[in-house]
Amino acid sequence: MLTIKKHISECLYNKYAVLCADPELTAEDFAGFLEYPPDEKLGDLAFPCFKLSRALRMAPPAIAAKLADGLADDIIGKAEVVGGYINFYISPEYLAGKLMPDILERGESYGSFDFGKGKTVVLDYSSPNVAKPFHIGHLGTTVIGHSLKKLHQFAGYDCVGVNYLGDWGTQFGKLIVAYRKWGSREQVEKVGIDELVSLYVKFHAEAEKDPSLDDEARAEFTKLEHHDEENTNLWKWFIQLSLDEYSKTYKQLGITFESYNGESFAAQRTDDVIKELNEKDMLRVDDGASLVDLEKYDMPPFLILKKDGSTLYSARDIATAIYRKNTYDFDKSIYVTSAGQSLHFAQLFKVVEMMGYDWAKQMIHVPYGTVSINGAKLATRTGNVILLRDLFAESIEKVSKIIEEKNSALENRDEVAEAVGVGAIIFYYLSNSRIKDINFILEDALNFDGNTGPYAQYTYARTCSIISKAGGVPDVKPSGADVTDPSEAALLKTLSIYPEKVLNAIDELEPSVITRYILDVCAAFNRFYHECQIVTADSPKVRDFRVALTACTRSVIGSAFELICMRKTEKI
Ligand code: ARG
Repeated sequence: MLTIKKHISECLYNKYAVLCADPELTAEDFAGFLEYPPDEKLGDLAFPCFKLSRALRMAPPAIAAKLADGLADDIIGKAEVVGGYINFYISPEYLAGKLMPDILERGESYGSFDFGKGKTVVLDYSSPNVAKPFHIGHLGTTVIGHSLKKLHQFAGYDCVGVNYLGDWGTQFGKLIVAYRKWGSREQVEKVGIDELVSLYVKFHAEAEKDPSLDDEARAEFTKLEHHDEENTNLWKWFIQLSLDEYSKTYKQLGITFESYNGESFAAQRTDDVIKELNEKDMLRVDDGASLVDLEKYDMPPFLILKKDGSTLYSARDIATAIYRKNTYDFDKSIYVTSAGQSLHFAQLFKVVEMMGYDWAKQMIHVPYGTVSINGAKLATRTGNVILLRDLFAESIEKVSKIIEEKNSALENRDEVAEAVGVGAIIFYYLSNSRIKDINFILEDALNFDGNTGPYAQYTYARTCSIISKAGGVPDVKPSGADVTDPSEAALLKTLSIYPEKVLNAIDELEPSVITRYILDVCAAFNRFYHECQIVTADSPKVRDFRVALTACTRSVIGSAFELICMRKTEKI
């Protein structure tokens, strides 16, 4: 799909290439120079000519005049020279006569691409550590990861979402000891993962007083490593209990995974990794532990084996990387974790590269900032961590109350409250650049009058109710002459940028591009809604055009919601 920006930059580039005997810039550079002016009086897109001065040996206004000459076409309504700038105005004929029918025909697939066809992207996200609480810190990896998966699917890629469960390591030895000493099957069955967390917390408190417990735990883990039947059964049970709990949250978020192969799966493959590292003469023994030296690359060593010979997170990640390449032959392998693991991934990618795998450059770490909670009194049974489940429950309950006040007659209230309550948290979270630290304030996320999820969902519901009042989407053949109000033109232009935003979000691996764009669409639509009569318009032609424009808006918001894991509700 050709975006407007791409079209304009190609037209400009072609003219430049004729003027310049030896063009040093590319069409992509030209796309990068194009700006969206802050004021619509300065055009819909603007091209500054200053950077071409040296290559063309001309003053910017002269370049602007040369390049702009004869540029107008089906898409470019007008190319106006102002100083060293060319201001572009998209043709209303194109917006109404071409873009609108395109959106009406493609519906929610408008904005999608197929450049990913035949290529695979593996996305490692969520990946909680089993038997530990699923807390607010996991929100980032879970929703950013899933949104990146949706975005890549939208570009045609085959996507493999992997929940790389933290289901291996000495913590299972601890849990087994704690369970045998202080736990009971009935209690764990009744309370679930929370009981495992309490047992784990108790283990740490007791081990402070009696360090021999740590030795016991290590011994139990070693037994597990050697497939001891009783320990294996306990371990499997702990994992199942945890998955049962996580799956409730995943269901609320509408998230599914293609694979749950976690650290225990990788642990079966670490022997081969150690062998390979030894064959490639990459391991160095230091104080009994084995590591890969990365001093040359200004990084601390990558620890592979502990003193006692047991493998580490790092070794499992090397095994996993190789397994994924062999299994999926990925084009990209994406890991979404907190920025706290940036060094780990830089080391991992370097070590894989040193092993001679040129696909190391296809691995990408996507870090995100921390989340803290302020002002919201959220009760959790674990004290200092906020469970995602509790945060969702509180949000859903608050939305339920708001709905009761606003629209007590709403039929499927529970469903709507869940979509809006969970959506509010996702939207608030994904409004920020992912690397920024976030201070989460639930009241702000739920503000129906702010730039929030509920506001966006309300706008979506508004488009649905207009269309239903109008008796459906009319069959129209719009043309430029149908655009009679500036708010209609502005809304169409905003809708025209959607494919561009999808590309940006994929390039920058940044779902917030889509979240912010949804707010732009909502603002443009609400302006149109307040300035124009839609269903009540005087003439049937005007009315049909405006209802069709509303339908285009509904498709774009609906599609964008999908990309950031928000559920849609037709009524609120
Ligand atoms: N389980 C880890 C954690 O909770 C995240 C795993 C990320 N993925 C990976 N392949 N290392 O911190």
